[in-house]
Amino acid sequence: MQGVGCSNGHQFDRAKEGYFNLLPVQQKNSREPGDAKQQLQARRIFLQSGFFAPLLQALTELIPARTKSLLDIGCGEGYFTQAMGEHCHAAKVYGIDIAKAGIRLAAKQAHSNVTYVVASSYALPVATRSMDVVTRIYAPSKDEELQRVLSAQGKLIIVTPGENHLLSLRQRIYQQLRPHPKPHPPVGFKTLAQQQLSFALNIPAGECTHALLQMTPFAWQVTPELLTQLIAEGLQDTASFQLSTYQLNA
Ligand SMILES: C[S@@+](CC[C@H](N)C(=O)[O-])C[C@H]1O[C@@H](n2cnc3c(N)ncnc32)[C@H](O)[C@@H]1O
Repeated sequence: MQGVGCSNGHQFDRAKEGYFNLLPVQQKNSREPGDAKQQLQARRIFLQSGFFAPLLQALTELIPARTKSLLDIGCGEGYFTQAMGEHCHAAKVYGIDIAKAGIRLAAKQAHSNVTYVVASSYALPVATRSMDVVTRIYAPSKDEELQRVLSAQGKLIIVTPGENHLLSLRQRIYQQLRPHPKPHPPVGFKTLAQQQLSFALNIPAGECTHALLQMTPFAWQVTPELLTQLIAEGLQDTASFQLSTYQLNA
């Protein structure tokens, strides 16, 4: 597919890396919306080192292998999207993110059934009721758009941080810890299942610890002294996630 068009007569070319940019200028609230390139590169280093492999495993277990269409909202550099594409190899899989830097990284190693698109999760360039599975891993979205794109029997899977996610690290950075909010169904959805997942993280000193700090909001909170100390020491902590599965209300 070299180009795509919409019902309003607009044409969009495929970029040389293989992705489509479907983000209209009026939906860009800054020059480079979404996560910054450096954050996305750090995410790639950290995720490809396998530290969140148990999360990937739990996620794919929730997705039927016979799935025909899957949309990953806020896919970043595509670590989870790629793996979901391999897991449901007969599906058309789409990863969308508002950050072009993430989509470019993702598209460079796209699996053949995965298409990456620069777009906003608040105005998804996806047909109504067309997706069997919609995933949202640590990314924002709009309830009305989730309702619109999911098929009647489709599954919406949302991954959010669990209560103890990176607790030791957060205790070193923040004076007062605010608990992560408990997940609740988006408007128009009912809960099918809730799963809590926790596992140990032993991150060696150096590049991977640095990458974790860069890819999270902590990057803005850590003093230069603490950053140097953490990178030199490495991290022993807990990763903790909530995997929530929802379906449209009848
Ligand atoms: C914490 S990252 C998670 C990336 C990926 N899901 C993962 O787990 O590796 C959040 C992502 O949401 C994207 N994002 C933020 N606002 C967005 C929006 N309005 N539409 C689409 N993506 C958005 C960011 O650019 C970033 O890549």
